Amino acid sequence: MTNGGQPPCTARWRRYEPCPMDRIHIRGGNMLNGRLPISGAKNAALTLLPCALLTDEPVTLRNLPRLADVDSFGHLLNQLGVSTMIEGARPEDFGRVLTMRAGRVTSTEAPYDIVRKMRASILVLGPLLARAGEARVSLPGGCAIGNRPIDLHLKALEAFGATLETTAGYVRASVPDGGLPGGIYTFPVVSVGATENAVMAASLANGTCILENAAREPEIVDLCNLLVAMGADIEGIGTDKLIIHGRERLHGATYSVMPDRIEAGSYACAAAITGGSVDLIGANADDMHAILAALRDAGVQVDPHKDGIRISSDGKLKPLTLSTAPFPAFPTDMQAQFMAMLTKADGASVLTETIFENRYMHVPELARMGADIAVNGRTAVVRGVDKLVGAPVMATDLRASMSLILAGLAAEGETQVQRVYHLDRGYERLEEKLSAVGADIERVSDG
Ligand code: EPZ
Repeated sequence: MTNGGQPPCTARWRRYEPCPMDRIHIRGGNMLNGRLPISGAKNAALTLLPCALLTDEPVTLRNLPRLADVDSFGHLLNQLGVSTMIEGARPEDFGRVLTMRAGRVTSTEAPYDIVRKMRASILVLGPLLARAGEARVSLPGGCAIGNRPIDLHLKALEAFGATLETTAGYVRASVPDGGLPGGIYTFPVVSVGATENAVMAASLANGTCILENAAREPEIVDLCNLLVAMGADIEGIGTDKLIIHGRERLHGATYSVMPDRIEAGSYACAAAITGGSVDLIGANADDMHAILAALRDAGVQVDPHKDGIRISSDGKLKPLTLSTAPFPAFPTDMQAQFMAMLTKADGASVLTETIFENRYMHVPELARMGADIAVNGRTAVVRGVDKLVGAPVMATDLRASMSLILAGLAAEGETQVQRVYHLDRGYERLEEKLSAVGADIERVSDG
């Protein structure tokens, strides 16, 4: 990442304000061909950012994606007293270099109006508890895809010796004098966020913390790698048993955000559904085995190489039977995108969503474009159709929005996707990336 000749600037992040009137228009039918750069991973960035709270020294993140959720998190960190400096942010650059410094934590509260807009804000709970010994964080509430409680976050922290009480929509947490004494917690359900909060809190504990049945997602490995670079002592990285020997303090570090495996998988589906050949530059096949295996089973050609992964398709797709599950299994964050791709498969596919209880909100919108999908509880049967027809559709959540974009790329005629602020949360400069490989796509703003 070059510095781009831009002087470093101290940025006070403006809170991301969605443009509700923005739409994306797509005129479908073009095959996608060319090189498509993959950005830093949203779900890694959102757990790396709060690590700045764990030290009074500078923490620099490279390859930080330019996303609404990252902006919102930067705004929250500023509220907590973290200074932020952005470098190399030339308009044409993908990603940014961000240096954060929590010389002094000036607030230990994450207010409702921030947390309700971005539930990942809950990830300041563990770091605040570890650094400041206390935290008052709003409960995030549910979201479009499900209830999404945070009970497992709280139980893990309690097992490590924190005192927590939940009143009036807030969690108030504190640690005994001397810090978290440590302990052991076995997750009854795999939880990415709860694992992340617990690991960050444990990194400064006054003892050893053990997590069993911990999440193993690559984003958790990225978090552990940054913490180790900051001086943390963690055993079992990449496994479902993490042993964290708390340190008295952590130091600053410079770290590069991992490539986004879900963005890469999403654009792989774009190549598949349009019958093109796209080179996903920067994608890491080691993070994507289940996604790539599913693509191959669908008849898509997958060729990893030193700079990324080439995805090629003749547009003829085979039906699949897929069930989402925690890593290393097929990720829930790819379910909507595969569903869009499979609407054009030669036969019936069966998708089962085991993680979230309401992650089929893209189905009625895909049906408006001619898709044949029947949902029964957690299972959706997708019968391939000869063609999709462009239509005005409404985005409801991040990955559902991408499924509508994918369908629009393959549909006859024009598709207008409304409420694209959902997309801005997780896909950096989507229109530019797709236009560069041949899509007829533009963003229209009435705002
Ligand atoms: C993370 O959400 C991701 N978000 C999600 O990505 C992803 O879908 C999810 O992990 C699963 O992989 C970020 O990393 C910012 P969980 P998280 O805790 O941590 C239940 C996207 O599209 N649960 O692993 O909130 C929960 O209801 C987003 O990029 C509890 O019951 O997910 C769900 O059914 C969407 N109690 C299951 O566990 C808890 O305390 C998995 O949730 C926590 C979770």
